[in-house]
Amino acid sequence: MNGERNLEVLLTEEQISKKVSFLGELISRDYAGAKELVLVAVLRGSVYFAVDLSRQLSIPFILDFIGISSYAGKTDPLGIVRITKDLDTNIARKNVLLVEDIVDTGLTLNYLLKNLRTRNPLSLRVCTFLDMPARRIVDVPVDYRGFEMPDVFVVGYGLDYQECYRNLKEIAVLK
Ligand code: IMP
Ligand code: MG
Repeated sequence: MNGERNLEVLLTEEQISKKVSFLGELISRDYAGAKELVLVAVLRGSVYFAVDLSRQLSIPFILDFIGISSYAGKTDPLGIVRITKDLDTNIARKNVLLVEDIVDTGLTLNYLLKNLRTRNPLSLRVCTFLDMPARRIVDVPVDYRGFEMPDVFVVGYGLDYQECYRNLKEIAVLK
């Protein structure tokens, strides 16, 4: 149904789950004993990663979601995005870990970080499943990364092409 003939797998299900376990252990260690961790998953792409990651955490956390949409369905060159669903949690004086599917140009993350910083979190870090440093337009801090990727358009594990392929268990490049 997804036309998988046209996909070239870059990361297998096994590679993904090993990496998610690794990140879960690392984050659990780093936040051990810290108070009130809020995982902020960015709708919609990062939901798959965020849920899997959260299951690998051995520390308490609150899971919350923020929805954003770029104007005209494209990332604005200035990185202006609209919040379509705000957090339900007050993050003031809490440790916040923003969970992203991919950091590409960095424009979306840059906007989100600026927005969340105004709410005075105790700490604010970023965990992204994929990182494409070659495509960066704005410098953004990435504290935890799953995989560094080449400059290709990838789908799967939450990432879509026109809303398709999110449910693909692998990360693949569209041919
Ligand atoms: P940004 O360019 O870093 O602002 O990324 C904006 C958003 O575009 C990401 O959160 C993804 O939802 C989407 N995106 C960027 N690169 C890819 C890709 O290779 N495949 C699928 N979605 C992408
Ligand atoms: Mg996204």
